[in-house]
Amino acid sequence: APILPDVEKCTLSDALWDGSVGDHCCPPPFDLNITKDFEFKNYHNHVKKVRRPAHKAYEDQEWLNDYKRAIAIMKSLPMSDPRSHMQQARVHCAYCDGSYPVLGHNDTRLEVHASWLFPSFHRWYLYFYERILGKLINKPDFALPYWNWDHRDGMRIPEIFKEMDSPLFDPNRNTNHLDKMMNLSFVSDEEGSDVNEDDQYEENILLMRKAMVYPSVSDDPNKAELFLGSPYRAGDKMEGDVSGAGILERMPHNSVHVWTRSNTIKGNQDMGAFWSAGRDPLFYCHHSNVDRMWSLWTDVLHGGNFPKPEYDDYRNAYFYFYDENANPVRVYVRDSFDTERLGYKYEDQELPWMSITQ
Ligand code: C2O
Repeated sequence: APILPDVEKCTLSDALWDGSVGDHCCPPPFDLNITKDFEFKNYHNHVKKVRRPAHKAYEDQEWLNDYKRAIAIMKSLPMSDPRSHMQQARVHCAYCDGSYPVLGHNDTRLEVHASWLFPSFHRWYLYFYERILGKLINKPDFALPYWNWDHRDGMRIPEIFKEMDSPLFDPNRNTNHLDKMMNLSFVSDEEGSDVNEDDQYEENILLMRKAMVYPSVSDDPNKAELFLGSPYRAGDKMEGDVSGAGILERMPHNSVHVWTRSNTIKGNQDMGAFWSAGRDPLFYCHHSNVDRMWSLWTDVLHGGNFPKPEYDDYRNAYFYFYDENANPVRVYVRDSFDTERLGYKYEDQELPWMSITQ
């Protein structure tokens, strides 16, 4: 059976039992009687939100002002509003730190990482976050940026997130990495290596190639699961082991989180811990590129006909989110496969990892 969250039984997240947060991550209670299934509407398919690289944001001041204004409004909403910045961050906390028991399996807790749920959950999460931002500034076509870390020009923390007086700023980041070219396979601060930029760039591109191109040409019958993540069904236990994570989640998604998190405060905030990651506006920009990788895997590497796990347990898994009008909605994995159907796409950029030979 598909794995489903028992949202009515939301509890303090496991990771928070140590009191480090003094908070829980449950959203304002869901009224399942008024919760509707997601439906594709008229505006899907023809309103095209185009997500663009964050490093080019200064080329479009109007968009940049909209983005900052929307985030500022989101941050000013009260906690009681599920669209507020802190409640949006809690969505990640609730689904990732075990706030929800698995429906029908009270002894297990739902976790959206390290399995085939990862790509869809995060796509839906951004989908609603983006619609909420658009609603707050009354621009339904507002589109998120993406952190273009697979291109040399995007391999640093994007400037727009570093202006200290901006709503996009977050102090809980690694202060040694603010101007540094990223290491896309970064695992911990102890490495301390100082590779020169050209070599680092070559390594990064090779890593991207391994993540994106090699698996797509493999004839492994399970390559969809290799890329997206392993099966995860009702009753399965997820015990902090990440072996079920697909390539999309491991390379370089995880390293970018670790690269960005604070190097000084205890607890890996913000980007390095599930409960706090969504507090950094950069999280959504990072995930926009992770989502773009899924979309490139589909459209560029598999001509639109991407391999996906053909199981009902996968397709029929669902999550709940609050939409831009603060109404709860139930969304299915099966409706997450096509970004254009969801009304958005990614602006084309050069893909350096497609063209190198090695
Ligand atoms: Cu839910 Cu980047 O993680």
